[in-house]
Amino acid sequence: MNFSPPEIKQGEIPFSDDDFRSLANLAKLQFGLNLAESKKPLVYSRLSKRLKARGVFSFPEYISLLVKPGEENEKFELISALTTNVTSFFREIHHFKTLEEEIIPDIIENAKNGRRVRLWSAGCSAGPEPYSLAMTLLKAFPEAKEYDVRILATDIDPKIIERARIGRYTAEEIDGISPDFRSKWINKIAEKNSFEVSSNLKKLITFNELNLVSEWPFSGSFDAIFCRNVAIYFDQETQQKLWQKFCNHLTSNGVLFIGHSERVTGSATRQLEGIGITSYRKVSNSAEDCKNRRE
Ligand SMILES: C[S@@+](CC[C@H](N)C(=O)[O-])C[C@H]1O[C@@H](n2cnc3c(N)ncnc32)[C@H](O)[C@@H]1O
Repeated sequence: MNFSPPEIKQGEIPFSDDDFRSLANLAKLQFGLNLAESKKPLVYSRLSKRLKARGVFSFPEYISLLVKPGEENEKFELISALTTNVTSFFREIHHFKTLEEEIIPDIIENAKNGRRVRLWSAGCSAGPEPYSLAMTLLKAFPEAKEYDVRILATDIDPKIIERARIGRYTAEEIDGISPDFRSKWINKIAEKNSFEVSSNLKKLITFNELNLVSEWPFSGSFDAIFCRNVAIYFDQETQQKLWQKFCNHLTSNGVLFIGHSERVTGSATRQLEGIGITSYRKVSNSAEDCKNRRE
């Protein structure tokens, strides 16, 4: 027998301050999210849809459901409801200029000298950021695939990672890509108004799920890390731990790019110097490096 959950109108499900605080605690513990009291109406409007989809009619019931074993997917639904996936190709274009002018020349030299080169798009959403990195890199270094050069692209949300991996976009979504790059890397597909990034671009990128506020399953260093418009959701303590962790995972002279409304604060500032708008180069200091790697 089919069961459709009844309609829930705005205001129908009670949402007390205690409910909000329980949700905020869970979101902080699991994902480092910072939900200020002022976000209560937004949280209500986004999450009441999730409750409706699950046929749940009270927030305490929803919160106990979230912590049940086997409800991993609901946690991802929660984070999707509490954050945004807004992204675009070549967003904050100045970062791609810095990458092209200040980082890629060294990358080419290092790769040709047999060194491992890694770039990371952390919190990559539906993929425009890592694909923009790949296009910028291949423009200057078309033979990159012949060397040990890879881009890692991660996001906490499994659905958005799958979209990124597929790499299909509408005409509006590919608007930020120059005609030259479009003709090289973007193919029109049969589906109306749809475009797909070429497999040559995809081959350079590894897409994986990763919660930035958890253990990272790798130990290598990155020549550049893009983590833009992600830490904005985290409280200051979580942000500062994240900046330090990124710093520990940068090669010496590696560069961290963050979102336009974000700032690096805390212990990482001792090792990172600003080289442009919201971009920071790691200053080599082997003693400090060793100390942080041990922590
Ligand atoms: C606004 S998008 C930013 C996308 C891209 N970096 C950009 O600037 O265009 C934020 C992304 O961060 C992801 N995110 C939020 N919390 C996260 C966490 N704890 N770990 C990893 N990714 C997270 C979201 O799923 C979302 O896709």
